[in-house]
Amino acid sequence: AAQMAQQRAGLHDVMQSAQDWFAANLQGNDGAGARDYLTSRGFSAHTVGRFGFGYAPPDRQAMKAALSEYEEPLLIEGGLRIAVDDKEPYDRFRSRLMLPIHDARGRVIAFGGRILETDTKAPKYLNSPDTPLFDKGRTLYNLHRAGPASRQTNRMIVVEGYMDVIALADAGIEDAVAPLGTALTERQLELLWRMVEVPVLCFDGDAAGQRAAMRAISRALPMLRPAHSLRIVRLPSGLDPDDLLKQKGKAALDELLDNAASLLDTIWTYERDVQPLSSPEDKAGLKARLLEHVETIQDPDIRALYKRELLERFSAFAFPPR
Ligand code: UTP
Ligand code: MN
Ligand code: MN
Ligand code: MN
Ligand code: MN
Repeated sequence: AAQMAQQRAGLHDVMQSAQDWFAANLQGNDGAGARDYLTSRGFSAHTVGRFGFGYAPPDRQAMKAALSEYEEPLLIEGGLRIAVDDKEPYDRFRSRLMLPIHDARGRVIAFGGRILETDTKAPKYLNSPDTPLFDKGRTLYNLHRAGPASRQTNRMIVVEGYMDVIALADAGIEDAVAPLGTALTERQLELLWRMVEVPVLCFDGDAAGQRAAMRAISRALPMLRPAHSLRIVRLPSGLDPDDLLKQKGKAALDELLDNAASLLDTIWTYERDVQPLSSPEDKAGLKARLLEHVETIQDPDIRALYKRELLERFSAFAFPPR
């Protein structure tokens, strides 16, 4: 155990050193392209500093040379270098705009890196692999800042991406977190519900964002407890929170957040709009889909109340009074 603790301390040091190095690169000659990119996205210098933006240079051995005081196995264990078979290990993050990911106590535990050139075939974002410090499904980006902020606002916003969190903070909205490129996990829902009773999902206004919201809802239903729920914002088509702020301004986002739909409304609207009800079979299909959601709710009171409300809406919609 003592050895494990020592090894973790070593990993924390190496992650912080990597962060210091990425951040310094952004200010150096190599970082000019990344600085221009940040300027083009309109983030303030204050926000760039506060969120610890950095830059990973193209050279495959650059980090190894810069962090030479650390043993290679530690760099590999931290997910910073990649070792394949017995070939020379190489830096994982190259030619990318870098963002540190922190644990709830504010320690750097991982990184996300965004490509600058949009024409490459490489994935847009590359994240650290799971390591002894980093478990993706148990981490929420920006939790160490949004947690304290949410105690002031009694609100917690969940967006899809790093850049959405940062754009919101740039606009003065500090109580936002993001899962890291995966569907919201049970563990992340538990973390959110520990902070506030009704977190607000605000995913991208595209098909992927809507699917992600429905997946989060399906995961949340079995976990619902009295007073705990979700609210869901549906953004205008084609916009994510960052786009919306830049195109329509903060007042527009505030308005959408204030009017976020309930979990029940979101299920109802989503299933109702799957297809027009032109036959008894269509009607039976809608009823079955609604009941499928209801059946996953474990809390008996909440399940009964959802069933009653959804079936009432179903009847009024499928059999409107003539
Ligand atoms: P988006 O594709 O919506 O990116 O993915 P974004 O956040 O709007 O990024 P910008 O504005 O183009 O820079 C949402 C999130 O999904 C994860 C990242 O966490 C990203 O922020 N993601 C996306 C990946 O992990 N890998 C990818 O290749 C793409
Ligand atoms: Mn609670
Ligand atoms: Mn998206
Ligand atoms: Mn997006
Ligand atoms: Mn975006």
